[in-house]
Amino acid sequence: MSVHSEVKKVTTNTLQKMKSSGEKISMLTAYDFSFAKIIDGAGIDVILVGDSASNVMAGHETTLPITLDQIIYHAQSVIRGIDRCLVVVDLPFGYYQSNSEIALASAIRIMKETGAHSIKLEGGSEVIESVKKIVSAGIPVMGHLGLTPQSIYKFGTYTVRAKEEAEANKLREDAKLLQETGCFAIVLEKIPALLAKEVSQSLSIPTIGIGAGGECDGQVLVMHDMLGINTEFKPRFLRQYLNIHEQATKAVQQYISDVKSKNFPNENEQY
Ligand code: KIV
Repeated sequence: MSVHSEVKKVTTNTLQKMKSSGEKISMLTAYDFSFAKIIDGAGIDVILVGDSASNVMAGHETTLPITLDQIIYHAQSVIRGIDRCLVVVDLPFGYYQSNSEIALASAIRIMKETGAHSIKLEGGSEVIESVKKIVSAGIPVMGHLGLTPQSIYKFGTYTVRAKEEAEANKLREDAKLLQETGCFAIVLEKIPALLAKEVSQSLSIPTIGIGAGGECDGQVLVMHDMLGINTEFKPRFLRQYLNIHEQATKAVQQYISDVKSKNFPNENEQY
């Protein structure tokens, strides 16, 4: 028996079974080895190497600047830290919208160079040829509807999407289309909870919500937001489980004080 078979890995089939049995899917973002190790070790079902790395790792205002090479670097680091969870990697802006050949080449680079298990891309009918091409190459695809941050300059704001009937109808149709085209799951971001519930119940594949209420089949948050590393972003949907920013600031201040006062290092901390 191979050593690799000892850990029961989460696969896209596992997520499908979880939807069928009513067990909620837990998903968090991660971008590096150390946090991926903590998150996977804690028992998460899915890690998303999100293009939110552009914001929380690189300090950009939007997700648009991150490149394919950069997301590949983050995904390679995450993969080295995990044993069990499913890893999904975002296709960055500009690497799948123009045509499906470019989309497939981008997805293949991610799968080949990182060892990740699947990719995610934003949009519905506009990107369906790319979804089709990637799925037909055997690469699992997660969709992403509602607030799609790569289109922020089209929306103009990060407010709740699909409140109007026309946009809600487009989202319903896009969700069906993504499912028919072979997506294994769909992220629903910042849409009314009732719409998310209806879409989740109408699909056979799982939905993963962020700011989309409790009736999605799973939930995702950006790790830096839920751990309180980044404290400036406080939308209503966010539950903050720690305040690392405050704790880390106090720890660093204590260290500075210990160095200045010659309290660090002490006799036991030297050779
Ligand atoms: O990049 C990201 O973190 C995401 C989540 C918000 C779903 O796409």
